[in-house]
This record gives sequence, C-alpha cells and structure tokens, in this order.
Amino acid sequence: MSNWSGLIRQLELVDEDSIDDHVFELYSERQLQNNLGYFDRSKNTISITLPHSQIDLTITQSLTQLSNQSSNSSSTGFICWQSSIFFTDWLLSSSNCPIKLNPELTVLELGSGVAGIVPTILSSKSKHVIATDQKHILKLLKSNIEENTYASMTTTTKSRIDVIEFDWEDVDSGMFNLKSIGVETPDVVIACDTIYNEYLIPYFINSLRNLLGDQSIAFVCVQLRDSITMEKFVTDVVNDEMLILYTVPSSLLNEELRNGYVVYCIVKKII
Ligand SMILES: C[S@@+](CC[C@H](N)C(=O)[O-])C[C@H]1O[C@@H](n2cnc3c(N)ncnc32)[C@H](O)[C@@H]1O
Repeated sequence: MSNWSGLIRQLELVDEDSIDDHVFELYSERQLQNNLGYFDRSKNTISITLPHSQIDLTITQSLTQLSNQSSNSSSTGFICWQSSIFFTDWLLSSSNCPIKLNPELTVLELGSGVAGIVPTILSSKSKHVIATDQKHILKLLKSNIEENTYASMTTTTKSRIDVIEFDWEDVDSGMFNLKSIGVETPDVVIACDTIYNEYLIPYFINSLRNLLGDQSIAFVCVQLRDSITMEKFVTDVVNDEMLILYTVPSSLLNEELRNGYVVYCIVKKII
C-alpha cells in the first residue's frame, strides 16, 4: 500500500478538454526517434549498459522467433526495446524522476518481453516483482532474469521474483495466475513499449482496470510512433469510467525520454 498523492501533484492531468493539445504538444515538442525502437536486432546475445546507472546486462533474444510469422501471438517480445532501458534508467538514476519506489512494494510488469529489464533491475528495489507476458515469451524471459539477477547477486539482496502468463486478451486467466502466486493487487504496474497496435489498446486498458486497486498506480512508457495509435490510447483512457490519466511533464524526464517518449501515470477513480 502506498500513498501516491505527492507524486500526482507533480504530474499533468490529461482530461477530455486537453486531449488534442496534449497529443499536439507531444508530436511538436518531443523530438521523435528516427528508428523503430529496438536495441539491436542483429544478434541473439546482446550486452546492454544502462546509460546513467551504468548497470550491465547480458540478454539473450531470439531472432528466429521474432521473424516467425506462423503464430497468432505477438513476436515483438523476442527482442529488447529501448523504452524499457530508458524508463528503468530514469527511475533509478534521475534526480528529477518523481517516482520513488520503496522496498515494501509489489511491482508487476505487463509485456516484459524476453529481456525482462524492469523486473531484473527492480528486484533489488521492491519486495516482490512479477514479470508477465504471453506464454511463448516466458521461458526466455525467466532465463534472462535468472542470469542477470544471479550476476549481480553479490551486491544486493533480491526480492521475490515471479514470472507468470498474463495475456491482455484473457484477463481472467491472468488474474487467476496472479492470485495463484498470492497477489490480489500489485502496488505498481509498469509497462514499456506496449502501445503500438490499435487492436490491443482496449485489452491493455482492461488489464490495467483489473490490476489497479484503490491504492495502486500504473506507469506506462510509450515510444512516440504514429499519432493515431497514441491518440486512441489517450482518448480511451481518458474516457474510461474507472481510470484517470496523468502525464509526466518534460521537465521531469531525462534527455533520453524527452527525445521521443512519453511516460503516463494511471490511477483508479475514487468513486
Ligand atoms: C514492443 S514489445 C516490448 C517488450 C518489453 N517491454 C521491452 O521494452 O523490451 C511489446 C510486448 O508486449 C507483449 N504483448 C503483445 N501483445 C500482448 C498480449 N495480448 N498480452 C500480453 N502481452 C502482450 C509482447 O509479447 C511484447 O513483449
């Protein structure tokens, strides 16, 4: 349980009247990246150093499964994306970052991908970390988390880490899987680069609606690509009868996130 009112005071509310201005400002003021946002899709094993916190990670990706179009499931999770690198680094090392995690929190990530950077790094900052994704991603995700948390084991105490299936299109099963590891409601939900496909947006928002309790908060880091997808996400959250949308102002982001990303905070309406 945590009280997020101090954080929320530093954020900007996005409501029905400000959607158009908000989206216009994002696309006119934030320098868009001239790339798709993946870290490196030329090899299966990559080394990543978070730019500011200087944490080193070795990640195994699967280029074969990335290009395997035979399945109906998403394959984007088979490689690592910049937004989770930049978001985690900002959370850890920016003096401007208004989000202060504490070791009592349970943190769940939606759409962790195989890299699992958020759960790996936050395992030393919170009580319980839960990495989630679709079933086909989980084996490599688990192995990357194990490899990278083991590598840093000497310096920090680890929290409990679980890896579970949570498909946004089957929220009931996801919530069942969560309950089966003893969690009703995480304190914090994090999602990096999960808003890129209009079809998935209602399912993703429904997942947030189910996961968030009265005292929890979600942080969603999005790379700015096409404005139509972005506007749909913003509009759908703002119009949701259960959710409130805030954005982190540019002044509180670091240089990497200001250049082509946006960070949202979403909480439940107190009715
Ligand atoms: C662009 S990747 C980002 C992965 C990771 N967060 C990162 O930053 O490297 C999008 C992620 O969303 C996941 N995803 C897509 N559709 C999903 C669904 N219906 N349910 C759960 N996860 C989904 C993908 O498997 C993938 O891991």
